Amino acid sequence: MTKPKVFVTRQIFQEALDMLSKEADVEVWPDELPPPRDALLRKTAGVDGILSLLTDAVDGELMDAAPNLRAISQIAVGYENIDVAEATRRGLPVGYTPNALTKTTADMAFLLLMAAARRLVETAEAVKAGRWKTWHPLHYLGQDVHGATLGILGMGRIGLEMAKRAQGFDMPVVYHDVVRRPAEDEERLSIRYAPFSDVLRESDFISLHVNLTPDTRHLIGRAELEMMKPTAVLVNAARGPVIDHDALYDALKDGEIGAAALDVTEPEPLPADHPLLTLDNCIVAPHVASASVATRRLMSIMAAENLIAGLRGERMANCVNPEVYEA
Ligand code: DGY
Repeated sequence: MTKPKVFVTRQIFQEALDMLSKEADVEVWPDELPPPRDALLRKTAGVDGILSLLTDAVDGELMDAAPNLRAISQIAVGYENIDVAEATRRGLPVGYTPNALTKTTADMAFLLLMAAARRLVETAEAVKAGRWKTWHPLHYLGQDVHGATLGILGMGRIGLEMAKRAQGFDMPVVYHDVVRRPAEDEERLSIRYAPFSDVLRESDFISLHVNLTPDTRHLIGRAELEMMKPTAVLVNAARGPVIDHDALYDALKDGEIGAAALDVTEPEPLPADHPLLTLDNCIVAPHVASASVATRRLMSIMAAENLIAGLRGERMANCVNPEVYEA
């Protein structure tokens, strides 16, 4: 019996590719950069399954060009690059990798928070540049993390993990989300629900953990930045477009807020000549919040398992659109 065909849009953990190879003829895009659109369409034209990344647009055009497609598996918890409605209309299950990266991403968000608070990147760069001349009582003063108020916008899986980390630093946590957490979560984690604008006004640190949707695009713009404390530190390990970057640049430059630490940007990659990169009070990391060996390995395996289930016509363990199984 001929094996199904699968296209994997980037190198992932070999272990996961080996799992896939037992079930399917696997072609992996070998380059570091994503396949250009024409190559993506060409490579997926005859496949039964695709294992995609956030950088690959899996849309109606691609689905039209891949008439044999039976399953889509994304190696990420986010999937805004996939037209899920279109996939659902065609009965195609879409897999993703929730939970795998929750704690690792929260670790990174907390790391960004601390690095911005204590000016870690700026000071380390000063040492490398030979600007460490002496110990001075007034040099490189940052902000205390312990005891400061953390505002969390988006109290889903990663937001909850962020709140747990804050407990270890005696930080009161105030949060906002469209859906309030059950009272038992609020008690267990000592988190206080508040209106969106109160979170902005009260917090010393604000960490974003919302999904990117039309409602959260530019959730943080000029008006919201103006509401924050002049010392506020803004952390984003969610999605770049949640913040209006022009407004953020102005707010950081004019001292409307204290600092920002971003793992995600708009666009990605952020061009090296972007104005945000000229600022000492802005840290930018290259979308690496889930990048631990253990987590990326687990994501690779989960993505492979989802795809294998999809090819076998079995239910994916982690499916964005389980309604395809009802049809
Ligand atoms: C995701 O999974 O959506 C992250 O942004 C990358 O790990």
